[in-house]
Amino acid sequence: MKNLAKTDREIAKWIKKEVIRQKECLEMIPSENYVSPAVLEAMGSILTNKYSEGFPKKRYYGGNDNIDEIEIIAQKRAKKLFGVEHVNVQPYSGSPANLAVYMATCSPGDTVMGLDLTHGGHLTHGWKVSATGIFFKSIMYHVEGKSGKIDFIELKNLVREHKPKLIWVGATAYVYQFPFKELAQIADKSGAYLAADIAHVAGLVIAGAHISPAKYAHIITTTTHKTLRGPRGAMIMVTKKGLQKDPELAEKVDRAVFPGLQGGPHDHTTAAIAVSLKEATKSSFQKYGKQIVKNAKTLAREFLKYRLKLVGNGTENHMILMDLTPIFGPGGGFFAQYALDTAGITINKNTIPGEPSSPFYPSGIRIGTPALTTRGMKEKDMTKIAKWMYQSLEAVRGYKLPKKEERKKYLEDFKNEVHKNKELIEIRKEVKKFASKFPIFAW
Ligand SMILES: Cc1ncc(COP(=O)(O)O)c(C=O)c1O
Repeated sequence: MKNLAKTDREIAKWIKKEVIRQKECLEMIPSENYVSPAVLEAMGSILTNKYSEGFPKKRYYGGNDNIDEIEIIAQKRAKKLFGVEHVNVQPYSGSPANLAVYMATCSPGDTVMGLDLTHGGHLTHGWKVSATGIFFKSIMYHVEGKSGKIDFIELKNLVREHKPKLIWVGATAYVYQFPFKELAQIADKSGAYLAADIAHVAGLVIAGAHISPAKYAHIITTTTHKTLRGPRGAMIMVTKKGLQKDPELAEKVDRAVFPGLQGGPHDHTTAAIAVSLKEATKSSFQKYGKQIVKNAKTLAREFLKYRLKLVGNGTENHMILMDLTPIFGPGGGFFAQYALDTAGITINKNTIPGEPSSPFYPSGIRIGTPALTTRGMKEKDMTKIAKWMYQSLEAVRGYKLPKKEERKKYLEDFKNEVHKNKELIEIRKEVKKFASKFPIFAW
């Protein structure tokens, strides 16, 4: 940061503040993590200076010999780790990767199917405001209200009725293992492509803590920055089954990424992806992935002891979805997120299945253990954290989301009161002391 501090003190100041925040707080957003110093170095390398449109050995620019080697290494590592036939490591992030899957498998206007956003699905699985819901005819499937598990009866009926060209399995808020096998049976019967979006669980899949989709899906997409613990980026993988369905699928995926959707790949990110994939081959990563799940299960058990309501009554992966309606009524996610933030615990407000409020003022929160596990926290630490979280929620119990017209003032008043809340201030001090015992990976 020496150079940055000299060149741009303003930005350097905010980065320093963010470093302090990441050190002092408990990062519990399920999609976030801490990368290693090695990943960070690759990302901050001079590879950012290079343009390399095209693919290894088939570039539109000169001077790409070194970049070719890096991209080939990244592809090889991903192929081996995930057991797939083809990998494209160039997508800028998870959303463009998913859009490329539509381009490779569908034509505009084709019918596609994904899990409803308010039931845990991702925007790019066909949600109405996303390009994927605007340019394709998207049909949403749902989870059952009680269990929070995919409603297979509805899904089968929808597939029979609408005959989608592409079906997504994967989610952004789902507490069970993804049922790849069951989805594959449905997709195969109807002749649809099955795309597994494992953005959230890619690291768990590598660690053997989550079933792999490699045998079941035709295409797999993943971000590289969540449980995989790499830089912000994404990959698209084509499986053996995918090539059996369409021998040209790999070329179609590549063409969809470039020139279909993107220009030059971010070579510094590609190098950092390669580094994170190497880290993921280590036995310590296997342990890490399994510990993420153990920590999440412990946290869930502790929450239940405090009689907090959880979707599915627990978790099979790295995340927990808490239904806050018993504490705040509909739309209480905001109160919980703000109170926990004040206490130094970072989570995100989230919809719950059958959401009674709205995606912006949802009734739940999403809580994850990947980042805490990277810092070395174990089950006994989860017990402490669950207590702080329970106490923080209790500290603001009773707030209720008012009607739209009254919301602005009510929420401003709430924030002012929360900042002065003695209990939350006390918890923040304890959290800071506790967090200081667990250095963050990269710093
Ligand atoms: C399941 C899933 N797919 C795709 C994405 C999109 O990734 P990005 O935010 O990198 O575009 C996310 C991000 O949260 C996700 O959870």
